[in-house]
Amino acid sequence: MEYIDLRSDTVTKPTPEMREAMAEAEVGDDVYRDDPTVNRLEELAAEMLGKEAALFVPSGTMGNLLALLVHCQRGDEVIVGNLSHIYLNEAGGMSALGGIQPCPIQNQPDGTLALKDIFASIRTEDVHHPITRLICLENTQNACGGIPLTPEYTHQIGELAHHNGLRLHVDGARIFNAAVAQNVPVKELVQPADSVMFCLSKGLAAPVGSMLAGANRFIARARHLRKMLGGGMRQVGVLAAAGIISLEKMTKRLSEDHARAKKMAEGLRQVKGLLVEAGSPYTNMVYLNLSEDVPINAQQITEKMKKFGVLVDPENARRFRLVTHYWIDDEAVATAVSAFESSLH
Ligand SMILES: Cc1ncc(COP(=O)(O)O)c(C=O)c1O
Repeated sequence: MEYIDLRSDTVTKPTPEMREAMAEAEVGDDVYRDDPTVNRLEELAAEMLGKEAALFVPSGTMGNLLALLVHCQRGDEVIVGNLSHIYLNEAGGMSALGGIQPCPIQNQPDGTLALKDIFASIRTEDVHHPITRLICLENTQNACGGIPLTPEYTHQIGELAHHNGLRLHVDGARIFNAAVAQNVPVKELVQPADSVMFCLSKGLAAPVGSMLAGANRFIARARHLRKMLGGGMRQVGVLAAAGIISLEKMTKRLSEDHARAKKMAEGLRQVKGLLVEAGSPYTNMVYLNLSEDVPINAQQITEKMKKFGVLVDPENARRFRLVTHYWIDDEAVATAVSAFESSLH
C-alpha cells in the first residue's frame, strides 16, 4: 500500500529526475576534492546563500555540530532557543562532543528569541563565567509552527551578536521555505549569519545531505572537523547530483507545498473535534490539536488514520504536526482531511 505520508518532509523519496542524475553522476574521491559533482554542488550552494564557501555534509545534525565546533572552544556557551532543534533534538552533541554549554532562552510564539533575553544572557567577563561565543537561530522555527523569521529580525540579531563580539549561526534546515514564504531572496535572509546550515533532504527531496555555508576559513576548518567526525565521504557525487536538482529545481516549487498546507488546514478547520492552531500554516507545516470533547488520544487517531492509508506523527497526546512536501498532491490533501473526519467520528 502506498501511504500518504504527512509525518515529515524528511520522508521525501528522490524524484525520477534525481534518480537519473544520480545514476549518471560524474564522481571522484571527495576527500581529495576530486568529485566534480560535489564541487559543483558546494559552489552552487555558496553562491545561492551569498557565502564564500559551502561544505556537503551527511546530515543537518552534523552541519550544526560542525558550526558549533568551529565557532566555539570547550567550555564556551551558546545562546539557543529552548524549542530549537539544536537544543532539543541533536542528542546533546554540542556538550557530549564539543564540551560546549547551551544557554537556552525562551522561543517566543513567533519563533524569535527576544533581544532583551539574548542581551541578558550574554555573560560578563568574569573568571567564574563561561564565555558566550555564539547565538543560534532556527529558520523556519519548527516547533513554533514552521514559522519563518524575517530578514529584519535576523539583521537585528546579527548586529547584536557582532556588536558584542559573538557569532551568529542559522540552523536553516528549511531556509528556502522561509525565503519563499516571505518572498525574499535566501541570500538576504542569511546575510547577517556567519554560518548557515540547510538541508537538501527535507522539502528539497534529496535522499541524503545538508550544506554548511560560511567564510572560506570557516569552511576549511569545518572540512577538517568533518573528517574527524567520520563524515569525509568518497564518491559522493552520486548524492550531490540529487542535491544539485534540489537547489536548481526543488527550491522553485516550495510554494506549492505551502499552498497545499493552507488547503489542508482549511479542510481540517471544518472537522469537528480538530483545532488548527491560529495562524497555521506559515510554511509547509500544519499544527493542530484535539478539542477537549474528543474522547480518544492522538496515538489512537494515528492508528486509525493508518488504516485509511495516511501516516501522521503525533507531537504529544493531543497535538499533531502535518507536513506537506513533493509527494503530497491535491488528492492526498483531500484524502487526509477525510481520513481525519472518519477517524474522529
Ligand atoms: C530545524 C532542524 N534542524 C536540524 C535538523 C537536523 O537534520 P538531520 O535530520 O538531517 O540531522 C532538523 C531535522 O529534522 C530540523 O528540523
